[in-house]
Amino acid sequence: MRSVLIVGNWKMNKTASEAAIFVRELKERLPLPSATVELVVAPPFTALESVRIALGASSPIQLGAQDMFWEDHGAYTGEVSAPMLKDLGCRYVILGHSERRALFGEQSDSIQKKIRAALKHGLRPILCIGESLAQRDNGSTDDVLTQQLHESLSGLTGEAMAGVTIAYEPIWAIGTGKSATTEQAVAAHRTIRRVLGATASPAIADRTRILYGGSVTPQNIESLLVSDQVDGALIGGACLQVESFATIATVASAARPIGV
Ligand code: PGA
Repeated sequence: MRSVLIVGNWKMNKTASEAAIFVRELKERLPLPSATVELVVAPPFTALESVRIALGASSPIQLGAQDMFWEDHGAYTGEVSAPMLKDLGCRYVILGHSERRALFGEQSDSIQKKIRAALKHGLRPILCIGESLAQRDNGSTDDVLTQQLHESLSGLTGEAMAGVTIAYEPIWAIGTGKSATTEQAVAAHRTIRRVLGATASPAIADRTRILYGGSVTPQNIESLLVSDQVDGALIGGACLQVESFATIATVASAARPIGV
């Protein structure tokens, strides 16, 4: 059984001091740790250390980063590596977010190298894929998802692939307040699982968590988690307030009691 994963992607928000205050408040408001729901916060690099300290040693909340470079160290001005993230206590790293693709020219070949580097250092990559509105409208969603998966995961062994979480994030739903419907998310997740089944194995596809991202809120999280195809959510805007992120975490814990 796949446990639910709820990830808050803070994007470029909160200074290190704001982040520490936020996390201390969040800890008070969270539901009791659940065996079926895993919580992750992904602050900017500059706030990772203060968030780690504010979370404390035995926190049920895991730390994630929003990106990384594929080399371990060297002359790469402005970049941050997997060993650096590991050393700060990161367990996850978001890779290939559509904002990185659209605003910073990130392409599948670099995403693939980042996934390999993350896995090599024991970080769990969360690979973001998703179609634009034009691609959805012209019926090419499945092709786009298939191509993005092939390009980003090609050459990985099945075992390595099992370490990757996929986030289906339709670009038209990100930050727009217009979430995909549960049916649209489920259809995309089925496509993703089918592609993983064909490229890795049905068993690996079955083990892989597929998150939905794009305008997830305390109001719509429950309906998204109704389907067992949706293994959690990648949340932007709604993770920036303690109340809404804590509510999403509470609803997610209630939506997936043990064994369901
Ligand atoms: P959103 O962002 O929740 O603000 O739509 C999601 C994301 O970019 O991961």
